[in-house]
Amino acid sequence: MTYRAKPVDGIAWVTGASSGIGRAVALELARRGYIVAASARRADALAELAEEAAGFKGRIEPAPLDVTDRGAVGRLVPEIETRLRPIALAFLNAGISVADRPGDLGGAAFREVFEVNVFGLANCLSAALNAMRPRGKGQIAVNASIAGFGGLPAPPAYGASKAAAIHLAESLKFSADRQGVVIQLVTPGFVRTPLTDGNRFAMPFLMECEAASRRICDGFETAGFEITFPRRLSWPAKALNLLPYPLYFALAGQFAPKRSH
Ligand SMILES: NC(=O)c1ccc[n+]([C@@H]2O[C@H](COP(=O)([O-])OP(=O)(O)OC[C@H]3O[C@@H](n4cnc5c(N)ncnc54)[C@H](OP(=O)(O)O)[C@@H]3O)[C@@H](O)[C@H]2O)c1
Repeated sequence: MTYRAKPVDGIAWVTGASSGIGRAVALELARRGYIVAASARRADALAELAEEAAGFKGRIEPAPLDVTDRGAVGRLVPEIETRLRPIALAFLNAGISVADRPGDLGGAAFREVFEVNVFGLANCLSAALNAMRPRGKGQIAVNASIAGFGGLPAPPAYGASKAAAIHLAESLKFSADRQGVVIQLVTPGFVRTPLTDGNRFAMPFLMECEAASRRICDGFETAGFEITFPRRLSWPAKALNLLPYPLYFALAGQFAPKRSH
């Protein structure tokens, strides 16, 4: 049977834990009995999060980190494993959305998004895999997005970075399987967080963080490769991407979130 991490196996490591989905998942994992190493840049927010988990079955331990600093990521993982316990479950969730403009393709905003969502993710994947591989056991979930399924009429950097995250998770699964490490992909629809608060377009089936975090944590325990929700949005989005391009562009252009850029 495919391995699924349990609190008895070790700690959970959550990146992007200072707000939004990562924060809610860290709290939910602590409720379910995990010691959670919570990473993000804002140490004060992580300290507050740890206090919020007081009295839970598990607990939260702040582990401040900038995921774009590859050296710091490489140092943090052995440090938290020594200080706490081996990482049994990693939820690699840190991510940003910056409204890049097509006229500035490859410019500062575009690079910033790729720096966090792709290079930051790769830094964390590398460190988590290096820790788990020798043990032949572990579970790593990558938080991508429905926005990575296919190109939409929206600022391109975010969607392209999430497509890269999906691709990374898919391609790493082959070797990780052989090494005893389970890779999962999380593809949420719209969740109400500081990241989506600034969106000026319609967000169908918008979910609250707490509901999303329960779906994600249930998925850690029981889902296969992909944890996708809400299905009434993600399944039609997947079906859209199976269509021939002329149909895809006609339909995606009509129904996908639009904003002028
Ligand atoms: N909200 C949605 O509708 C939605 C849908 C699909 C996927 N997602 C994905 O879910 C993830 C979390 O997003 P969210 O909506 O919860 O947004 P959020 O509330 O803005 O959270 C983003 C988190 O990432 C952290 N972060 C950003 N840059 C970082 C860096 N360089 N190093 C370490 N941590 C960093 C932030 O913490 P600090 O600022 O303290 O570093 C924060 O904790 C993202 O990957 C996003 O793409 C969100």
